[in-house]
Amino acid sequence: MEQQIKRIAVLTSGGDAPGMNAAIRAVVRTAAKSKMEVIGVQKGFHGLIEGDFISLNKNDVSDIIQRGGTFLYTARCDEFRTLEGQKAGAAQLKSAGIDALIVIGGDGSFEGARRLKELGIRVIGIPVTIDNDVACTDYSIGFDTAVNTAMDAIDKIRDTSSSHERVSIVEVMGRGAGYIALWCGIANGAEDILIPEMFDGNMPALIDRISSHVIETRAKGKTHHIIINAEGIGHTYEIAKAIQDKTGVGTRATILGYLQRGGSPSAKDRMLASLMGAFAVEELAEGRVDEIIAVHEDKIVGYPITEALNMFKDVEPFMYRVSGLMVR
Ligand code: F6P
Repeated sequence: MEQQIKRIAVLTSGGDAPGMNAAIRAVVRTAAKSKMEVIGVQKGFHGLIEGDFISLNKNDVSDIIQRGGTFLYTARCDEFRTLEGQKAGAAQLKSAGIDALIVIGGDGSFEGARRLKELGIRVIGIPVTIDNDVACTDYSIGFDTAVNTAMDAIDKIRDTSSSHERVSIVEVMGRGAGYIALWCGIANGAEDILIPEMFDGNMPALIDRISSHVIETRAKGKTHHIIINAEGIGHTYEIAKAIQDKTGVGTRATILGYLQRGGSPSAKDRMLASLMGAFAVEELAEGRVDEIIAVHEDKIVGYPITEALNMFKDVEPFMYRVSGLMVR
C-alpha cells in the first residue's frame, strides 16, 4: 500500500506554453479539496536543485487561468541531466517532506521526472508543449493556442504576399515535429507544407520541387504562394533565396519565432489544463503514481511513465494525405 500523499510539489519545465498557469491552478485547487499541501518549485529543475520553493494556496492561483507563460517560471537545466543534479533535486524534495512531484512540461522534462522516480521520488507528468510531440498523448496543452497564433500571423503575411504578388515562406516552431506546420498549412490554405517527418534530407530536390510548383501556380494565375516550413527543416532564408533565384518571383522569408509561445490560452488549452491538472492530483490521492497524464480517444488517462516514454507518435497519415489534397 502506497504511503498516503499529503504534500506535493509542482514545477513547470522546458519551453513555456499557454495553459501552464491553468494547469498549476487546477493542481492547487484540486489538492486543496483533497487536503493536500502544495509547494511550487520556481524555475523548473534548476529551482529544484536550488530548493527554490514557495507555498501555494488557492489565492495564489487566482487570476492566472487566462495568462500565458508560467508564473512559476521555467528553465532548461543542463545540470539536471547529470546524476549529481538529479540527486540534489531528489534530496531537496526529501528534506522538504514532499511526497510526490508533478512535472508540467514535455518529453525532456518527463525524462527528468523518470530519473527522479529511479531515485525514489513519486512523480506525475502533465504534457504541456506547443510542439504537441509528447508520444503518449494525442494532445499536449499549448498546441491549440500556438497554432491559432501562428495561423493569425500567416493570414497577415498572406495579405501582403498577395498585394506584392510574392512567394512567402514562413517558418513555424515545433523542434523535430511538424504538427504546427501541418496544422497551419491546412488551416492557412498554404500552397506547400514542409515537415521533417516527410523530408528525406535532399534539400536541392526540395527546392526544385517547390520552385516548379511556384511556376505552375503562377501559370494558373495565382498571385500568392504560401509555403509553411517547419523549424525541424529550417534553412528558411536559404530556401527563400533559392526559390527566388530559380523562379524569378520575389520571395520573402519570415520566422515566426517566440510569439508562438505566448498569449492567453485558448478555451481548449484552459479546459485540458484544468482536466489534466485535476486528474493528476486525483491519481495521487488514490495512490496511483509514476504516470504521465494523456489524452487518448478524447478521454483523460494515465500511462506508467516508463511505458509512456517508450511510445512513438507520428503524423496522422490521413491528415498528411489531406494536406496534399489541399495544397495542390
Ligand atoms: O519546445 C518548444 C519550443 O518552442 C520548440 O518549438 C523550439 O524548438 C524550442 O522550444 C525553443 O527553445 P528555447 O526556448 O530553448 O529557445
